[in-house]
Amino acid sequence: MDIKKVGVVGAGAMGNGIAQTAAAIGCDVVMRDVEQRFVDNGLKSIDKFLSRSVEKGKLSAEAKDAALGRIKGTTDMADLAGVDFVIEAVIEDLALKTKVFAELDQLTRPEVILATNTSSMSITQIANATKKPDRVVGMHFFNPVPLMRLVEVIRGYHTNDDTVAQTAALAKRMGKETVEVKVDSPGFIVNRLMIPHMLEAIELVQEGVATKEDVDKAIKLGLNYPMGPFELMDMTGIDICKFVADYFQQELNKELKWISPTLLKNTIKAGRLGRKTGGGWYDYK
Ligand SMILES: NC(=O)c1ccc[n+]([C@@H]2O[C@H](COP(=O)([O-])OP(=O)(O)OC[C@H]3O[C@@H](n4cnc5c(N)ncnc54)[C@H](O)[C@@H]3O)[C@@H](O)[C@H]2O)c1
Repeated sequence: MDIKKVGVVGAGAMGNGIAQTAAAIGCDVVMRDVEQRFVDNGLKSIDKFLSRSVEKGKLSAEAKDAALGRIKGTTDMADLAGVDFVIEAVIEDLALKTKVFAELDQLTRPEVILATNTSSMSITQIANATKKPDRVVGMHFFNPVPLMRLVEVIRGYHTNDDTVAQTAALAKRMGKETVEVKVDSPGFIVNRLMIPHMLEAIELVQEGVATKEDVDKAIKLGLNYPMGPFELMDMTGIDICKFVADYFQQELNKELKWISPTLLKNTIKAGRLGRKTGGGWYDYK
């Protein structure tokens, strides 16, 4: 199917990045959130990102205006009725996601693919809320969406080959590289590998083996990673690391591997949640 109009559900960090990236390749975009202020914030973030690209000479002012002009913000779910492809990026809550997919199932044409940007939840469970589970797929972008090159395309139990192929093709049109996750397994590839490396880094500091500064330095210089695990947690959220570890512990039946160190729990209890607001492992001015 020729995908000309993309629906994005959620105008938060991921939703607005996805909307911007789809508009940049010439798609019309309908971006829906529950309240106008969230829609406005999403549109403002896109405007800010594109304005910076113009300042840096990476984008013409005309291209910026054209991209913004292709994005319609809305609070009305019914506005998604005519889209050719939907990407859901609401908060990471299974009950909410299944509710949204049941609504999308009613609203969209039968052949329209419904993709979820979930970081860890079961594609199969989300798909069960629809009458077309073969057209439901995971499409996992990374933050910030316009800059990060990877999209994990995840098969749910019922996802068919055409759905996987069309989703990967759209991601490639959006300038991304794709990998296929063949089994609907929690955390897919990247988070399944990222979380244990974060937990192990915290254990190292907790045991007094090294400081967090030296752990970050060792990983950057020794493995050539762009960020150390503590810097990465400060960006993605320290509480989210624990949330996902708890989910893996429950779903993957590997009890010890996913247990949160006391230092992680205490850092969260102290309100140091990362995302560079209110402190994380490091202080940010
Ligand atoms: N932030 C990341 O680094 C990252 C990376 C990859 C995937 N994800 C996943 O992407 C999804 C969104 O994450 P985020 O960081 O953008 O969250 P966010 O909190 O920034 O945005 C979520 C948005 O969804 C909106 N929302 C809630 N219910 C809705 C509904 N019924 N319809 C439309 N909008 C609704 C909220 O108002 C909010 O604006 C989550 O599943 C998350 O796990 C996040």
